[in-house]
Amino acid sequence: MLNRKDVLGLYDLSAEEIDEILTTGMNMKKLLRQNIKKLPHLQGKTVTTLFYENSTRTRCSFELAADYMGAHVVNIAAASSSVQKGETLVDTGKTLDAMKNDVIVIRHPMGGAPRLLAKTVKAHVVNAGDGMNEHPTQALLDMLTMRENFPSIAGLKVAILGDISHSRVAKSNLFGLKKLGAEVRMFAPRTLMPTGIDRMGAKVCASREEAVEGADVVMGLRIQLERQHGGNFPSLGEYAKYYGADEALMRYAAPHALVMHPGPVNRGVELTSALIDGDTSRIEEQVLSGIAVRMAILFLLTKEEVAS
Ligand code: NCD
Repeated sequence: MLNRKDVLGLYDLSAEEIDEILTTGMNMKKLLRQNIKKLPHLQGKTVTTLFYENSTRTRCSFELAADYMGAHVVNIAAASSSVQKGETLVDTGKTLDAMKNDVIVIRHPMGGAPRLLAKTVKAHVVNAGDGMNEHPTQALLDMLTMRENFPSIAGLKVAILGDISHSRVAKSNLFGLKKLGAEVRMFAPRTLMPTGIDRMGAKVCASREEAVEGADVVMGLRIQLERQHGGNFPSLGEYAKYYGADEALMRYAAPHALVMHPGPVNRGVELTSALIDGDTSRIEEQVLSGIAVRMAILFLLTKEEVAS
C-alpha cells in the first residue's frame, strides 16, 4: 500500500509499493485505451506542475493525467515565474501551499531539489526528474510497458545503452527493475559510465553485444547534449557507429526482444530509424503508459483524503 506523502525516487520505494503503482497504472491504462478520460478520482484537488527545466512529454503527461481525473491543473514554468525575481524554491513551495495545492510535481536541474521541497511543504511532492539523480515516473512507465509485454518483470534481462552518466532515467530504472527481480545490464562509452554503478546492482558490460546478448528489452538513452561539456566522445556520427543500436545489434538479443527509449530521441544516434519505427518498438506505447502511471501515482497519493 502506497502510504507515503511523496514520490521522490525508486530508491525509496519497496517492491510492494512499486507493484501497487504498476497494478493501478495497468487499470488506468485500460480505461485510457477505451478513451475514458473523465474520471472522478481527483475532483476538487489542485495539482501544480513546477518545471525549472524544459520538458514536453513529462509535463504534458502529468497535466493530462491530473486533468483526466478531474483535478484543477496549474502550470508554473520557472522561466516566467517569480523565480526570475529571486524567489527561493522553499518560498515558492510555501506560496503554493498557501494556495491550497494538493500535489506539486517538480522538475529541477539540481539533484535533491524535490526532497528539499517535500520537507518544507504540506502538499504531496512528485519528482518529475531532478538533475542526474532520479526520474521515478519515467522508470515506472517503462516497467509498466514491460509488465504488459511480458508475463513478469522478474527474470527479465534489460540492456540499457547510452548516456548513463547524465541519466536519471537509468538510475531510477536500475533501482526499480532490481527490486522487481530483473537483471540490468549497462553499456556506454567509458566516459559516460558512472563509476560505482555496478555497486548499485548494474551489470556493466564491456561491449554493446555483451549487453544485448539474450536481452528481452533494449533501452536506448538520449545523449544529453545539454549536459555534456565536450570530450566524452568524438562526434554523434561516431557515437552512432560504435555505441548506438541498430538491427544488426538486435540479432544478439532474444527473438522477442523489444526496443524502448524514454524520449526525446536523437534519431539515428542512440537508435536507428528502422528500430524506432519498427514492429519491436514500444516507444509510443511508453507515452500512454506515462499518463497511466502518473494517474496511478496522483490517485494513490491523494486516495485517503478523497475517501474521508
Ligand atoms: C528524460 C529526462 O528528462 O530525464 N526524458 C523524459 O522525461 N521523457 C530523458 C532525457 O531527457 O533524455
